[in-house]
Amino acid sequence: MGNKFLTKAANIADYHAHILKELHKGVALTTSDGIRTNSMAISWGMLGIEWNRPVFVAFVRTGRFTHEFLTNNPQFTVNIPVGERPENIISYLGTHSGHTDDKISSLGLHTIASPSVNVCGIAELPLTIECKVIYRQLQEPKSFTDTEHNIINTMYPKDIDSSFCGSNRDFHTAFYGEIVGTYLIENQIV
Ligand SMILES: Cc1cc2nc3c(=O)[nH]c(=O)nc-3n(C[C@H](O)[C@H](O)[C@H](O)COP(=O)(O)O)c2cc1C
Repeated sequence: MGNKFLTKAANIADYHAHILKELHKGVALTTSDGIRTNSMAISWGMLGIEWNRPVFVAFVRTGRFTHEFLTNNPQFTVNIPVGERPENIISYLGTHSGHTDDKISSLGLHTIASPSVNVCGIAELPLTIECKVIYRQLQEPKSFTDTEHNIINTMYPKDIDSSFCGSNRDFHTAFYGEIVGTYLIENQIV
């Protein structure tokens, strides 16, 4: 007996509330350089519309390994739990870096080729949003207009160096991914 994974197209509108609820707790953002696949945990993101296109915006600090992959190969998948949350997976993806760890192998995750982008989905996080980056912008200190929350000092205190997973020195790049597909991964025992 083994596992056979199938992808089934899904309508993202049916999952908007679910996606935002899970995002708040942490989901995965997966990228590739064509040879290796890497995933990181994200809990900041936006689902919406711009330029008449459905977009998922991911915010990635410039020091992340993901940032390098995403800049060189501007496609990604967002991988969202359905049912019981695999907290150990999200936590691992958020506390280890592709700089030093092949996280997909370390966790023994099952990857599945995506129909519309060159980055795979992850069977353990079966709801998959396929995105192609159509715009990216580095967020800069001079553009903050916040006067109430002290965002610059609380989010960018610059006391943890970029080489650590919890680094807070780097600003974020907003990667606007046009949503080109959504699918669910189904696990069939064969
Ligand atoms: C729940 C959770 C959410 C996170 N959200 C983000 C995020 O939205 N953006 C970000 O740059 N880092 C975020 N992180 C930190 C990265 O996941 C972490 O630094 C990771 O090691 C980066 O992996 P990489 O170096 O392989 O890209 C989050 C971490 C956790 C645990």
